Amino acid sequence: MSAVTVLGLGPMGRATARLLLDAGFDVTVWNRTPGKAEALAELGAKPAATVAEAIAASDTILLSLIHYDAMYGVLEQGPADLTGKTIVNLSSDSPANTAKGADWVLKRGAKFLTGAYMTQSDDIAHPASKLYVSGPADLHDSLRPILEKLCANVYLGGDYGLAQLYYQAGLAMFHAYLISLQQAFAMIERSGGDIDTFLDLRKDEPVSQQDFTNFFAQAAKGGGWGDLASLKMMHAGAQHVIDASEDAGVDAAITKTIQDYYQRALEASERAGEAVPVYRIFRGDA
Ligand SMILES: NC(=O)c1ccc[n+]([C@@H]2O[C@H](COP(=O)([O-])OP(=O)(O)OC[C@H]3O[C@@H](n4cnc5c(N)ncnc54)[C@H](OP(=O)(O)O)[C@@H]3O)[C@@H](O)[C@H]2O)c1
Repeated sequence: MSAVTVLGLGPMGRATARLLLDAGFDVTVWNRTPGKAEALAELGAKPAATVAEAIAASDTILLSLIHYDAMYGVLEQGPADLTGKTIVNLSSDSPANTAKGADWVLKRGAKFLTGAYMTQSDDIAHPASKLYVSGPADLHDSLRPILEKLCANVYLGGDYGLAQLYYQAGLAMFHAYLISLQQAFAMIERSGGDIDTFLDLRKDEPVSQQDFTNFFAQAAKGGGWGDLASLKMMHAGAQHVIDASEDAGVDAAITKTIQDYYQRALEASERAGEAVPVYRIFRGDA
């Protein structure tokens, strides 16, 4: 358990290896493109020349690659029989690709666990960071001495796809948030406003956002939020954001996409003869 191998040295793999070195592990590292292991070697990591060498060095192998597809080509460079090894894939992908990847690894005799870093970029040690984990509970328990050195672990269940399901759902919100945030800043800047004033106005946002999250979660369990008046109001409200953006020369494509959901909900409501919440458009059962 004192030896760990990290395959894939992008920002996340490097941060993972650094934290394991700090925690006193014997860390072997490998990356497809050479040159990314040098700084880690100075901290005490052992760069492996080949995947086979990296796998031979430890029973626990952490993967940090761009997607699950990359895992096949990397692990195929090592031994065909992985009996005695545990592969923990910390790469991002869909739950279905994760399950396929798990099956592939298990057929080669290794144990398998999936992890998804819910972190602020590569700041894994940040107090808000979480590692979502899914796969066999006993395997996770046996790996806690390693994985909990990275950040707080959240075990989500035996289904291999679960860590990715909750991670990708979080990212669905995060991606929209980051893009919308930049639209808001551009609107303010291009209209002669002040971004710092906006920040001050939004300082209670976390509390408000939590309220909306809770409210919409309850609504989703009951089929979604929105009577006809609310759908019309949101559609009109989106138009005001589009106008305010475009009047200032700011791209409003994201708001047009949002408005389209209300449009589709209104059209579905007309067909159904009753209000059809936007949530049902997402669910595909409108
Ligand atoms: N960065 C973040 O904020 C963040 C946060 C949470 C989760 N994640 C996830 O963590 C994973 C790693 O992210 P990252 O930001 O470190 O970097 P990344 O750019 O997503 O992945 C880089 C790593 O993948 C390797 N790679 C790419 N294609 C490959 C292939 N076909 N075969 C072998 N290796 C291949 C790269 O090797 P080369 O150096 O040879 O190109 C490099 O080691 C990703 O799945 C990412 O989505 C990232």
